Amino acid sequence: MSIETFIDKYKKQFKAMAPDYDVPFEYSTATPVEFQDADNVKLSFACIADTHLIDKESATANLENFFTDVFSSKKAFDAVMLAGDIAEYGKKAEYRRFFNVFDKYYNKVKIFLTMGNHDVRFQYGRNQKIIMDKVNEYLNINTNGKSFYSYDINGYTIIVIGTEKRVLEKAHITQEQIDFLDKELARATKDGKPAFVMCHQAFAFTHGLPEVWKTGDMGEQNDDVRKVMEKYNNVFFINGHLHGGIFEKTFEVLNTEKNDHSISIPGYRKENNFGITDCGVGYYCEVYDDKVVFIARRFLTGDNVEGEYCKVEYELV
Ligand SMILES: [Fe+2]
Repeated sequence: MSIETFIDKYKKQFKAMAPDYDVPFEYSTATPVEFQDADNVKLSFACIADTHLIDKESATANLENFFTDVFSSKKAFDAVMLAGDIAEYGKKAEYRRFFNVFDKYYNKVKIFLTMGNHDVRFQYGRNQKIIMDKVNEYLNINTNGKSFYSYDINGYTIIVIGTEKRVLEKAHITQEQIDFLDKELARATKDGKPAFVMCHQAFAFTHGLPEVWKTGDMGEQNDDVRKVMEKYNNVFFINGHLHGGIFEKTFEVLNTEKNDHSISIPGYRKENNFGITDCGVGYYCEVYDDKVVFIARRFLTGDNVEGEYCKVEYELV
C-alpha cells in the first residue's frame, strides 16, 4: 500500500468514526415541555448556545427543531436566548441561513441574541452590525451601534452584554457597558425580582475554567463585570462558549449571600466535552415569585434530559 493510499484510508476511517452532526436530526412531539407549575410561572425562556451555524441545509433543519420544540411547549414560552457563536466561520451566507429561520419567529416569541468569538473574531464591524441590526428589529429597540441592551418582559429584565471589539476568543467590555449593567441591574432587582444577564463568555475560574477551555473566560474586564453583578441579589448569568455539556461544573455559585449564579449552556451543534455530551441540548428557565428553575432539554429532538445537573432550583432571597 502506498503512503498516499494509507493516509487516504486512514482519513476515511477517521471521518466514519467521528459523529456527523451536520445531518438533520429527527424531532418528535411525543414529550413536549411541561412547566412544573404552569399556572404560576411568571416568566419562561429557552436558552441555547453555540449554534456555530454552517451554510448547509441540515443546519437550517436542526435550528428549526429548536423552534418546533419551543412552540410545542404546553404553555407558551415568553422568550428564547442564544448565548453567542451564532455562525461557525462568520460568513454572510451563514447569517443569511440563520436569520431566515429566526425571522419567522420574532413576532411569536421574544428573541435575545449576543455575539460570540466565532461571530466577530475576523469580521468585527460587519458581523456586529448584522447581528445587532437583527436585535433591534426583533425587539424593536435601538442599541445605537453598541453590543449591549436590556429588555423587560412580564416585569423582569434580561440584560445582554457583548464584546465591543475584536479580541479573538475573549470579550472587550467597555466601561460604558459596565456602567449600563450596573444601572440596569439596580433597576431590575430593586423590588426583589431576579435579573438575567447573558454574555457569550463566562467568568474566569467558573465552570471548570481554565481547565475546560484554556482561553475561555471573559477577558480583561472579567473582575469589573463580576463585581457589578455581585452587588445585586438574585442575578442569573447565562453564558456559552465552553461546550462543557451537562456536568458538575454546569452551574456555578457566583455569590452565596447575594444568591448570584452562573449557568454554562452546552453547545447546540456539536457534541460537548463532559458529562452528558449530546448536541442540541440547552436549558429552559421557569421563573416564579419565590424561585427560579433551570431544566435541561434536548430541543433538537424534543426530549427531556434525565440525570444529575439536569434540573436546578434556586430559592430567591
Ligand atoms: Fe465561543
